Amino acid sequence: MTKNLEVIILAAGLGTRMKSSTIKILHRAAGRPIVDYVLDLAARLSDTPPVMIIGHQRETVQESVGSRARYAIQEKQLGTGHAVLQAASILESAGLAGKRVLILSADVPLTRPETLQQLIDEHERSKNALTLLTMKLAEPAMYGRIVRGPDGSVTRIVEAKDASADEMMIDEVNAGIYVFNGENLFDNLRNLSNSNAQGEYYLTDLLATLRQSGQRVGAVIAGDPVEALGVNSRADLAAVDTEIQRRVVEKLMKEGVTFRNPSTVVIDSTVTIGNDTVIYPFVTLEGNTRIGHGCVIEPGSHLINVDVADNVHIKTGTVAEDAEIGEGAAVGPYAHLRPGTKLGRDVKIGNFVETKKAVFGAGSKASHLSYIGDAEIGADVNIGAGTITCNYDGVNKHKTVLEDGAFIGSDSQLVAPVRVGRGAYVGAGSTITKDVPPDSLALSRTPQRNIEGWAAKKREERKKK
Ligand code: UD1
Ligand code: MG
Repeated sequence: MTKNLEVIILAAGLGTRMKSSTIKILHRAAGRPIVDYVLDLAARLSDTPPVMIIGHQRETVQESVGSRARYAIQEKQLGTGHAVLQAASILESAGLAGKRVLILSADVPLTRPETLQQLIDEHERSKNALTLLTMKLAEPAMYGRIVRGPDGSVTRIVEAKDASADEMMIDEVNAGIYVFNGENLFDNLRNLSNSNAQGEYYLTDLLATLRQSGQRVGAVIAGDPVEALGVNSRADLAAVDTEIQRRVVEKLMKEGVTFRNPSTVVIDSTVTIGNDTVIYPFVTLEGNTRIGHGCVIEPGSHLINVDVADNVHIKTGTVAEDAEIGEGAAVGPYAHLRPGTKLGRDVKIGNFVETKKAVFGAGSKASHLSYIGDAEIGADVNIGAGTITCNYDGVNKHKTVLEDGAFIGSDSQLVAPVRVGRGAYVGAGSTITKDVPPDSLALSRTPQRNIEGWAAKKREERKKK
């Protein structure tokens, strides 16, 4: 935490190159809107909530960001200098003497807190009026170029659109992240001119203003240029997503998670995984998914907001959403756990089993080809292959209750509302429409009749034709 530090986050632009109806800073990378990563940075560095400059889709942005920021509105996007100036009404009243102002862009989410700390430290050490983050790029593209004087000091930033052919050759560029001294910041912004190629008020012009008034300007070159990568297009968004994923996996590996092929998994930054869990290739883990230790998550599994306890085995191709899986349980291959599924300890859900709003007690099993919906299953219940809860009558959903130790024979239909009592048996192939008392056997199929010699006779008849 740095004392006397105010943070401003620029977020008023729409981001037209995204070709989206959603403002770019609310596009998600690794499960979170990209602005969230910038808000995290601000929170790491200052106790005071940042001032966000908002314009386009401001209600939606405010809804998403909430009380994590204070807000200043920029009605028209007249440039980055004009954007920062909008924070004047909030920050000037509190007084800026002796304070530092850190300026971040809401679309630059990969900067590490250590790098910003380095920027702030350098600012103090060199007694600068402005310290900016720069980077060296093989292809400097449309970034502002850093012009240095013969003594190596930064003299100017020239925007790509205003640059000469020689200036375009400069490989050091402006990352768009700055630490300013609070004194005179807003007065200097009020004096900016917009006589440039874009007719905008450039924040970057303050560099020359400060130099001309005899103040010091310094720069820190980011070791890893990815830290300054801005999201301007879908390609940038994909690059940011990939980098966040890489960091997530790297962190998880440090914490003791094994990845069989780390580059193939998709894991949101919101997901946690315990040590000694093994993640196979092509696994996708999203939202508030939490996985315990000692689990195995096999290929092609897709979990969204799933709570997985310790020592769980999720087999190939399992899809689960808004579900809980208890310790020691095994699920799949190819199981579908829909919202409201809660599996107790050591539950076994086998291949091609679909569950929805179904609570399974410890040790219960549905091993093959079943649909279990709106059901309350006790402990140690055995659900045979092909069992189906008929929970929907076309209008309403009804509940099936299977009490502890019940045994449901294969290919049974349980027509809800219905209850099978403790320890009761349902014979295979039954259609159960009435409650089954505890410890009894329910059978509803028609008794079998054998007609001896029937097939032989049929064959004889066929031969004669
Ligand atoms: C800016 C810098 C450039 C730097 C680059 C780094 C200027 C003049 N140029 O260019 O030197 O290399 O960032 O990414 O500052 N914004 C507003 N209101 C405005 C204009 C912009 O809030 O009126 C916000 C945008 O939403 C964005 C940020 O400021 O979050 C940067 O604006 P952008 O238009 O992307 O600037 P660049 O052209 O990328
Ligand atoms: Mg930009």
